[in-house]
Amino acid sequence: MKFKIKRYNGEKSWFDTFEVKPVSHMSVLEALFQIQDEQDGTLAFRYSCRGAVCGSCAMLINKKQRLACRTQVSEITGERVLTISPYGPIAKPELKTGDDILVEPLPNLTVIKDLIVDMKPFFKHYEEVMPGFVDDDQAVNEAMMSQDDVRKVDKYAACILCGLCYGACPAAARERDYLGPAALAKAWRFYADTRYRSKDEMLKRVDAKTGVWACDTVYRCVEVCPKQVPPTNAITGFIRKIILYRMKHLFR
Ligand code: SF4
Ligand code: FES
Repeated sequence: MKFKIKRYNGEKSWFDTFEVKPVSHMSVLEALFQIQDEQDGTLAFRYSCRGAVCGSCAMLINKKQRLACRTQVSEITGERVLTISPYGPIAKPELKTGDDILVEPLPNLTVIKDLIVDMKPFFKHYEEVMPGFVDDDQAVNEAMMSQDDVRKVDKYAACILCGLCYGACPAAARERDYLGPAALAKAWRFYADTRYRSKDEMLKRVDAKTGVWACDTVYRCVEVCPKQVPPTNAITGFIRKIILYRMKHLFR
């Protein structure tokens, strides 16, 4: 089985092809370890938990944003993938053919080396929405929540900050200041929490050209999320709340 991997050394990028000995239930991450151990110790990639928890191993595998530790080689061998490339103003369909497994770094972030991208812009946007309780929120005093209220935020709290959604987002591709799907989903996780008090302030943070209004509502983020977080629903939820807020304050 052949792995075609995009390399980058700080100056130029190219593709290397490696022959991998398949092992039962092998993940793409394990295949990368095999290449690194037996063929090229300089191959760089990021990982930590190996169990789809830390989000470190996000990359583009056969033209789809995936976690390497969660992607089974047997499931993607020989797959034909038609993707809509998010690059540039015009969406461009791309067809991945052939039996090689194609591994590339996560799009929309600057490559540092091989499959390692600089996550700083992603986490900067996360910090910009200030996703957390503040002193006067009831959560600080361990307020009780009903099961229904917990369910409203639970699916957003499941985010592991892997960045796959950001790497799949056409709006993030063309607008680097866009807060992005993960940050907006985290913002909604707090906004929708019954214990969170600073709701107007949160609305103001996301009500921007580079906030919820940049979203194309094409659901690419929902499609690739390994934890079934629906960032687009958070964004449309915010849009509804912003419109209501504006109507309420129109004649004040
Ligand atoms: S929303 Fe999903 S894809 Fe995006 S960072 Fe969170 S877990 Fe990853
Ligand atoms: S290594 Fe942690 S999510 Fe893949």
